[in-house]
Amino acid sequence: SQALTPDQLKALVRTVPDFPQPGIQFRDITTLIGDGAGLSASVAHLAAMAREAGAQKIAGMEARGFIFGAAVAVQLGVGFVSVRKPGKLPVDVIGIDYDLEYGKDRLEMDPGAVSDGEQVVIVDDLIATGGTALAAVKLLRTAGARVDNALFVIDLPDLGGAERLAAAGVDVAALMD
Ligand code: PRP
Ligand code: ADE
Repeated sequence: SQALTPDQLKALVRTVPDFPQPGIQFRDITTLIGDGAGLSASVAHLAAMAREAGAQKIAGMEARGFIFGAAVAVQLGVGFVSVRKPGKLPVDVIGIDYDLEYGKDRLEMDPGAVSDGEQVVIVDDLIATGGTALAAVKLLRTAGARVDNALFVIDLPDLGGAERLAAAGVDVAALMD
């Protein structure tokens, strides 16, 4: 259902100060996804945007991106591409190291998970610096996908992620700031 307003959705996100390290205001979706109306409204709004973007597949980043990304893929009846933390996939992978708001990490994917020219829309819970999303864009493009859109539940606009993605030719939309 899309019955919840954006303000009602926003009120379901919990803010935890100083997690995972001092100075970080952690925007926690646990409370949002624990609410049935909140989860279904979030997925419905993201699915409408992904459909509008012409998604032929949805890609989500481990772990929180799997929750929303897989649900959106089911809504559209398209496949899901899992972009994973290191060492999880059982095949030869392509990988990339990246920085995020509170550290460094690595993402990997199966290069055979997308077809040449396939329109893949990225879905994740949150964009901060955009490091994670940009890493996913690079991997997906290396694998041959077209990536023009990335969708998030939450944008932290002060951290500049949307601008970084725009500079890479990726349009960013989010359900809330
Ligand atoms: C969080 C979040 C995004 C990323 C955003 O994931 O789910 O993927 O950080 O930060 P950025 O825009 O600065 O890159 P995290 O790496 O904490 O992993 P998790 O999904 O396993 O909790
Ligand atoms: N990922 C990166 N920065 C974050 C934040 N402030 N809250 C939740 N997840 C995040």
